[in-house]
Amino acid sequence: MTPPPTLAEVRAEAFRRLAHGVADRRSAFHTPALATLGPDGAPAIRTLVLRGFDPGTRTLALHTDRRSGKWAELAAEPRAALHAYDAAAQVQLRLSGRAALHAGDAVAAAAWAGSGPGSRLSYGIAPAPGTPVPEPPPAPREAEGGGEAHFAVILLRFDRMEWLHLHHAGHRRARFHWRPEGLEETWLVP
Ligand SMILES: Cc1cc2nc3c(=O)[nH]c(=O)nc-3n(C[C@H](O)[C@H](O)[C@H](O)COP(=O)(O)O)c2cc1C
Repeated sequence: MTPPPTLAEVRAEAFRRLAHGVADRRSAFHTPALATLGPDGAPAIRTLVLRGFDPGTRTLALHTDRRSGKWAELAAEPRAALHAYDAAAQVQLRLSGRAALHAGDAVAAAAWAGSGPGSRLSYGIAPAPGTPVPEPPPAPREAEGGGEAHFAVILLRFDRMEWLHLHHAGHRRARFHWRPEGLEETWLVP
C-alpha cells in the first residue's frame, strides 16, 4: 500500500490542482464557488471561473462586473472564501483570504486584453446585472460594446487552505495557515 502523502506533498498537489483549474476548462477547479459577506453579515455564494493563480503570492484571479452584488460586498468586506470540489478525485479545497479589487487600472486592462470576444460580451449588458426585469433579456450582441468600463478583476490572496481527500484507506484532511511568522500546517481529524 502506498504511504499517505506528506503535508508538503498535499500542499503541492493543491497548488497543482489550482493551476490546472485555470488551464483546463473541464477541470472541476475551473469553476469554484466564491463566498462573500453581505452588508447585513449574511453569507452569499456563487460560481465563478478561475482565471489565474500565482502560487508565489497564493493569489487567485477572478473576473466580474463591477456593477455586481459581489463587487459591492467585497468593497465593503474584503474577506472572502473559495470552495472547489473535484468529484472524480474526491478532493475538496477550501480557501480563505482577502480580495483586492481592480477596475479601470492596469490589472483590469491587462485582463481585458487577454479576454476573448465571448467573455467580453456580457460586460456590455444593460441595465446592470441583477436588475429585476419583466422577462429574460436577449443575449448581448457584439454591437453593445462598452464592456470594458464594467469589467473588473478580483485578486483573492488566500492565507488559509483546507484540503479534504475522501480516501478508502481513511479520509485525509489537512490545514495550512500562512501567518506572518511562517506557515503552520497540520493534519486534522476528518
Ligand atoms: C459555470 C458558471 C461560471 C460563472 N462564471 C462567472 C464569472 O467568472 N464571473 C462572474 O461574475 N459571474 C460568473 N457566473 C455567474 C455567477 O455565479 C453569479 O450568478 C453572478 O455573477 C451574480 O452574482 P452576484 O450577484 O453575487 O454578484 C458564473 C456562473 C456559472 C454557473
